[in-house]
Amino acid sequence: MVGPPRKLLLPVILTSIGAVILLSLHQSTLPIPNPDFIPINSSIKTTNHQFTPQDFTFLIKVLAFNRLDSLSRCLKSLSAANYGGDTVHLHIHVDHFALTNESLNVIDNKLEESRKVLNFIDGFDWKFGNKVVHYRTNNVGLQAQWLEAWWPSSDHEFAFIVEDDLEVSPLFYIFVRGLIVNYYYNASNFSPSVYGASLQRPRFVPGKHGNKIHLDSETRLFLYQLVGTWGQILFPKPWKEFRLWYDLHKSKGIKPFLDGMVTNGWYKRMGERIWTPWFIKFIYSRGYFNIYTNFQHERALSVSHRDAGVNYGKTAGPDSQLLDGSSLDFNLLEMQPLSNLKWYDYCFREVLSGRVGRTLDEVGSILRTVQKDRSVLLVTILGGSGTITRNMLCHLERLSIRNYILIGPGSDLLFDLARRGHPVIDADQFFNYLRAQRVMGFQHSSAELMKNVLVNAYVIKKCLEDGYDSLTVDANVLFLSKVQEFINPSSDLCAGKSLGFFFVRSSSSAQEIWAGLLKKVAATIGKGSLQGESTNFVYFVVKFLEQNGAGILRVDEASIGIQIRADAFNKSSLEAGKKMVYWSTDTSLDLIQRRLQELSLWVVDGDSSCTAVVCHES
Ligand SMILES: *[C@@H]1O[C@H](CO)[C@@H](O)[C@H](O)[C@H]1NC(C)=O
Ligand SMILES: *[C@@H]1O[C@H](CO)[C@@H](O)[C@H](O)[C@H]1NC(C)=O
Ligand SMILES: *[C@@H]1O[C@H](CO)[C@@H](O)[C@H](O)[C@H]1NC(C)=O
Ligand SMILES: *[C@@H]1O[C@H](CO)[C@@H](O)[C@H](O)[C@H]1NC(C)=O
Repeated sequence: MVGPPRKLLLPVILTSIGAVILLSLHQSTLPIPNPDFIPINSSIKTTNHQFTPQDFTFLIKVLAFNRLDSLSRCLKSLSAANYGGDTVHLHIHVDHFALTNESLNVIDNKLEESRKVLNFIDGFDWKFGNKVVHYRTNNVGLQAQWLEAWWPSSDHEFAFIVEDDLEVSPLFYIFVRGLIVNYYYNASNFSPSVYGASLQRPRFVPGKHGNKIHLDSETRLFLYQLVGTWGQILFPKPWKEFRLWYDLHKSKGIKPFLDGMVTNGWYKRMGERIWTPWFIKFIYSRGYFNIYTNFQHERALSVSHRDAGVNYGKTAGPDSQLLDGSSLDFNLLEMQPLSNLKWYDYCFREVLSGRVGRTLDEVGSILRTVQKDRSVLLVTILGGSGTITRNMLCHLERLSIRNYILIGPGSDLLFDLARRGHPVIDADQFFNYLRAQRVMGFQHSSAELMKNVLVNAYVIKKCLEDGYDSLTVDANVLFLSKVQEFINPSSDLCAGKSLGFFFVRSSSSAQEIWAGLLKKVAATIGKGSLQGESTNFVYFVVKFLEQNGAGILRVDEASIGIQIRADAFNKSSLEAGKKMVYWSTDTSLDLIQRRLQELSLWVVDGDSSCTAVVCHES
C-alpha cells in the first residue's frame, strides 16, 4: 500500500498520514518489561494552570477548498455534535483555486464553484459560538492552510483542525473536553511533552522497518509521536513553539529532512506543498507526543472520507467507522492517569519515559527494564557536553544498543534525556541517598570529591548483586560496535589501557573483590587522604585494585580504537574495523565535532537531535 503513489494521488496522501497502512493484528512482542514508572523531577513540570478548565477557548478550524459536498457533510457533523452548553467557535479557511492562464470557460467554472462554497458557508447556521470565514485571494496549499490556521492567543486556547472531507462523531467534543480537563488542567496528569490529541484511528508507522501498530483491547488511550491529520487537536504552547521553530528553519533554508522515515521521501518529492514533514521533524527534535484513541472494531471519533480532490485522484471512502452513541459499549470519559498510558515513538517502539534512579531500589528497577542479556553499559556524563552525549545516544540507537544507563548530575540535560526515554541515574540524589543510608559512614567532607567514584562503585555493586555484567565508560568514548565485543571471556575485570572503559563480570569472585574495594575506599575517605586524587572513576578504581593485587586485564585502546587528536587523522583506520573512537577529557568540543564530522560519525543536527530515525524490529 505504500508503493510509489501515482502522480495524482501524491499531495493528498502526504497530508493524510493515517491512510497508508492498514491496522495489522500481527503480534509484535516488545522487548521491554513494564517499567516501574518514576515521574520526572517535578520541578521541571509546568504547573501554572490556575485557570479553571471552564475558562478555556475552543476553536474549530475547518480547512476547505472547492469540495462543496464534502464541506457540507463536515459542517453538518460538526453542528450535530454535543457541546454540552460550551461556547465553541467555528473558523472556516477557504483556499482559492490556483490562478493559471487556463481558458475562460475553466475559470468561469472555478469561480462558480467558489461562489457555491461561499454561499453555502454564508447560509450555514452555527449556534455554538462565532462563525468566522477567511477566504484566500490565491491558492496557498495545505502547508499554509494548516500553519496559518492558528496562532494561539493564550495558553488556554485549543484548536481542532479539520480538513473538509472529515466527518466527526457527535461525541467528539465531550471526549476532547475530557482530555483537556484530565491531561492539561489536572497538574498531576499534565506533561509538557504532550502536544495534542488525534481523533483518527491510528494506522501508520512512519519509521522504516518499524513495528506494526499493535495494541491490546484494554488500551483505550495511548501516546504516539506521529501527528494525525484527520482530526487533530492542538495544544497552544507546543504549536506556538512549532511555528517559531518553523520560522527559524524555513528562513535559514534548513530543510526538515529526517532519514529513515517514509515521510522523508514524501518531502523530497513534494517539498513545500505539504506541511507534515516539518511538524514531524519538530516533534522528533523535541521528543513530544500526541494522545491517540484505540476504540477497537476500526472505530474513531473522526473519519476521513478520502474524497476525490487535492489529496485523492478518486474517492477512496471512509477510513474508519464513526463511533456514535449507538455503538458506544464503554465509558468514553474514563481516562487513566497519564502515568498508566503507554508511549510510542516513530518506530512504534514503546518509550519508557521518566526512568530516574535515585536510590538502590530505583537503580534495580531500571536495570530490569534495560535489557535481556544481563549486561549493562554505564555511561558517565559528568561534565560532558550535551551535544556530544546526544550524538553518542544516536549511535547507540543505530547499533541497537539498548542496555545502557546514563549517570550524571541532576541537570536539565539529564532530566530531559529521561523524559525522552533514556534511563538515567541522578548522581546527586543517589549520592545523597547513599549518605543518608550511611552505607559507609562517609559524612566526611572529602566524600564530595569522591562523589563520582562512589556513585559508580555503588551502581556496579548493585549490578553485581543483581547478576549483571557491567561496562563503565565516560562520555568521551564513542562505540562503533556492540558492547559485547569489548568483553573478554578470559577475565572478570578488564580495563582500557588509557582507561577509557572498565568491565566487571558478574561472578562471585568479582563480588568479593568489589566488597573489598568498597571497604578500602571507606577507609581512605575516613582518613581524609584523598586530596588531589583523580575523581575519574576508571582511573581511580583500576589504580586501587591493582595496588591491592587484583588481576585486571588491560586492553590497549589504540589497537581497537581511534584517538581524536589535534594532528591529522588517518581515516583509513576506520575501515580497519575499529571498535571505538575516544579522546582525552581535555580535547576541545570543537575538535571532537570536527573530527567526528570527518569520519561521518557526527549524526546530530543543529537541534542536537539525531539526523535519522533507526528502527530495529523487535
Ligand atoms: C529537581 O531538580 C532540582 C535541580 O534541577 C533540584 O534542586 C530538586 O531538588 C529536584 N527535586 C526533586 C524532587 O528531585
Ligand atoms: C500562459 O500561456 C502562455 C501562452 O500559452 C504561456 O506562454 C505562458 O507561459 C503561460 N503562463 C503561465 C503562468 O502558465
Ligand atoms: C487528577 O488526576 C489524578 C490522577 O489521575 C486523579 O486522582 C484526580 O482525581 C484528578 N483530579 C481532578 C480534580 O480530577
Ligand atoms: C592508516 O591506517 C591504516 C589502517 O589502520 C594503516 O594500515 C596505515 O599504515 C595508516 N597510515 C598512516 C599514514 O598512518
